[in-house]
Amino acid sequence: MEKKVLFTIFGGTGDLAQRKLYPSLFRLYKKGDLKEDFAVIGTARRPWSDDHYREVVMGTIEDLIESKEQAETFASHFYYQSHDVTDTTHYDSLKELADSLDQKYQLEGNQLFYLAMSPNFFGTIVSHLKSQGMLETEGYHRVVIEKPFGSDYASAKQLNEEINQVFSEQEIYRIDHYLGKEMIQNISAIRFANNIFESQWNNRYIDNVQINIAEDLGVEERGGYYDKSGALKDMVQNHILQILSLLAMEPPVAFSEKELRTEKIKALNAIRIYSEEEVKTNFVRGQYAHGQLEDQQFAGYREEMNVAEDSATETFVAGKFLIDNFRWSGVPFYVRTGKRLTEKGTRINIVFKQVPVNVFKKDVTDCESKKKLAPNVLTIYIQPTEGFSLSLNGKEIGQGFDTLPVKLDYRNSTEIVENTPEAYEKLLLDALNGDGTNFTHWDEVAQSWRIVDVIRHAWDKETPDFPNYSAGTMGPKAAYDLLAADGFEWIWKP
Ligand code: BG6
Repeated sequence: MEKKVLFTIFGGTGDLAQRKLYPSLFRLYKKGDLKEDFAVIGTARRPWSDDHYREVVMGTIEDLIESKEQAETFASHFYYQSHDVTDTTHYDSLKELADSLDQKYQLEGNQLFYLAMSPNFFGTIVSHLKSQGMLETEGYHRVVIEKPFGSDYASAKQLNEEINQVFSEQEIYRIDHYLGKEMIQNISAIRFANNIFESQWNNRYIDNVQINIAEDLGVEERGGYYDKSGALKDMVQNHILQILSLLAMEPPVAFSEKELRTEKIKALNAIRIYSEEEVKTNFVRGQYAHGQLEDQQFAGYREEMNVAEDSATETFVAGKFLIDNFRWSGVPFYVRTGKRLTEKGTRINIVFKQVPVNVFKKDVTDCESKKKLAPNVLTIYIQPTEGFSLSLNGKEIGQGFDTLPVKLDYRNSTEIVENTPEAYEKLLLDALNGDGTNFTHWDEVAQSWRIVDVIRHAWDKETPDFPNYSAGTMGPKAAYDLLAADGFEWIWKP
């Protein structure tokens, strides 16, 4: 279906717009999801001209274009308006431009606003959109909101109320770009299209679940934002809890936005909210020190640009979530995420329980490792490689009878991975289609903040002994002790 629409991007000169949004819009254009009847208004403070803006846009799609002419035609749909988001008169000129583009491109009044800038202004922007009459056009009005959605439950609630004065829940698309990733969407296929797994997906057969989002990069140029946020708010409140809810939810009665949401919210509601004491035993934080990996040297976090010299911000979190429902009672969901770790990798390990009796154990004098079989593990590789593997135990070839772990391994080919639509491309198309399945509902955001707030509060009461892990390693020792205390270990050992 053709998408007639006017995009207004707040933060049009920013990093996200340039790295993600413009290339994604171009891919949609190349595939014909966007034809010639669309327009984009980029707004930000800088006084750019349309020509300069178009040059910038063309620069962001250089690697994707088939011809210069194609790039120029695409870029001709882009218009720039210098804008102070707090000044109401600026919305009047924005409206004028929007109305004229609506006429010019015959957009039938459809509008998608994209808030890709400092969250401090989200409330102000939406209220001015309404007060200055920008939402009075005939078609649909949707707003896409980048994270962070608030900085704790109270601020998120206030922001939500402000946005709700203007947009209904159905018109709000809160982005969590992990939900646009191919292999995150694949979690539901693995679970609900394979009886072999779904029949085992509970506390009778699963020992523990491990969610890793490791990054090898440091904070790069984002020190200013990151030093106020930290890994807990940057990664756990959103991406990790979203993944956890997809892994833990009950099968939805239908694969629809409404049913999926209902189940995800139920799963999040069943996550135990810890007391401050429990936070101390179940969560670990870390901050990277200077380190070395092979012949590369990395600066410590406190030496990074725009980071306080005595910063107490965590760049690493490991923790254990417990889910108090029939399906998951007693199964720890371990999570681990951090910057400047050994390598980049997002992967999920589902660790199955041991068989009731190890009949291959020879005698009581066997060492500990022989008494236990290697666990069956289903691994879902989210990125950079995409695929699944399943570790089983087989017989070691030859005389005698020793068992040996073997792996069934499937990875999408490099060609497939390269041609998979990028998360932002998929999510933009979903928003254009009015499909909110892969966006986060307010109830999910609210509950995620409630879960994370107690961890934050407990941590804020004590000054951590930072830095406590070297750049290039997989985090502090306490992250290993956390699992060892339960008799487990991290399956992924890069
Ligand atoms: C963002 C965080 O949401 O996700 C970043 O703000 C992080 O700090 C990024 O680097 C990771 O995303 P991806 O897609 O590279 O795994």
